[in-house]
Order: sequence, then C-alpha cells, then structure tokens
Amino acid sequence: PPRGSLAGKHILVTSGPTHEPIDPVRYLANRSSGAQGTAIGAALRDLGARVTFVTGPASVPPPEGVEVIRVETAEEMRVAVEHALPVDAAVMAAAVADWKVKNASASKIKKDGCGRMPVLEFSENPDILAWLSRLSLGRPKLVVGFAAETDDVIAHATEKRLRKGCDWILANDVRPGTEIMGGTENAVTLISDQGVESWPRMAKDEVAARLAARISLALEGR
Ligand code: C5P
Repeated sequence: PPRGSLAGKHILVTSGPTHEPIDPVRYLANRSSGAQGTAIGAALRDLGARVTFVTGPASVPPPEGVEVIRVETAEEMRVAVEHALPVDAAVMAAAVADWKVKNASASKIKKDGCGRMPVLEFSENPDILAWLSRLSLGRPKLVVGFAAETDDVIAHATEKRLRKGCDWILANDVRPGTEIMGGTENAVTLISDQGVESWPRMAKDEVAARLAARISLALEGR
C-alpha cells in the first residue's frame, strides 16, 4: 500500500512486558523485548497512521514519531489503553503478565533469619485484549492479538481468537531454540475468520510491514 494509506487512522499498539511488583525493589517479569511491537508501531506510523504506543518496560526503545505511554503493570496498561480510545484498530503485542502478586509488600521483604521463605500469592490480571474485543461501546473496528505458544500453536491460537473475541491472531512459536523471543526474526501465522495463513520466517520489521499493509487493506474495507 502507498505511504499515506493509513492517514487519518488512529491505531493503538501495546508492546513489551509488564512488571508486577513483589515489593518496592523486586518484580515478576517475562522475556518479552518489545521488539515486535516496536516494529509494528513504526510500520503503522510509516503508512501515515497516528499511533498511540502503550509500552511496558521494554528492552528496546519505542518508535519515534508516535505518542508513547509508558506503564509498568498490567493494570496500568489497561487504564492507558482505555484512555487511548477511540481508535480505528488495536494491535495488542504486549506480553502482559497473567498474574500479579496479591500480597505485594509496601516495604522490602527481609530474610527472617530462621530460614523461613516468603510465600507469594497471586491474583489474575485483567485480560486487556479480551476486554477491548468485547467492548460494546467503542470497540475498535479491528482488534489484533498475539499468541506466543510453545506447542500446538495453531490449535491454541485458533481457540484463543474465539475465546478472546479479537478479529485476528498472529500466532508464533516461542519454543526455546527458535530464538524468536528476544531475537530479530519471527515466524507467524495469521488466523482470522478467513482462515489460517502461515508467513515464512522473516525479520520482525518485515512481519510488521506486512501486518501494517494488511491492516490498511482491512480498514479500507477490502
Ligand atoms: O492469553 P495470552 O496471554 O497468550 O494472550 C496473548 C494476547 O492477549 C496478546 O495479544 C496479549 O497482548 C493479550 N493479553 C492482554 N492482556 C492480558 C493477557 C494477554 O491484552 N492480561
């Protein structure tokens, strides 16, 4: 598509991991680098979209020329997403922590000197993708989710698309040895109501450009 094909469109991208505090100096995190989400933000910008980029503490810098909203936890990410609405499309590439620490401590947890270990309790974080996909008022025209899986990638991702109510899922295989998480390449399968389409392994920048082009076509109603 031509460079300006997303001009006038507002697109939300979530990216990076979330950090869930244990105490003021410790947190739970995951291995997401934010590389794929950052590439998607840049590719949408390059097609002329106005991009709101909500990012957790990623290890790569956010794209230039977009509105960057930095958050730390899943709950903060959900609030930032809500504030970014209305949008024409949303690409939820963040690796949101499934759980937060329910009994996070306001002060640094100390060793008790008797060898007793702290016990962490968890509670579920909001599922931002599912929440956004099921909004009755102000749902984006197109909601794209990711599914990082280690086995039965397509079956799990197909089930996830239906369960969460998003329009497209980009599924990827993040088994150890694929060097996808934290790497520069990705191999994704696009799952929609039109079926299943596996893309060859390519640079994350190219995945992003291809996805941006598809989004541009979808928002034109083709
Ligand atoms: O269920 P799972 O975490 O594998 O789903 C992945 C997709 O859901 C990604 O698009 C991710 O950004 C989104 N997600 C979310 N909020 C959560 C968990 C996942 O938006 N709490």
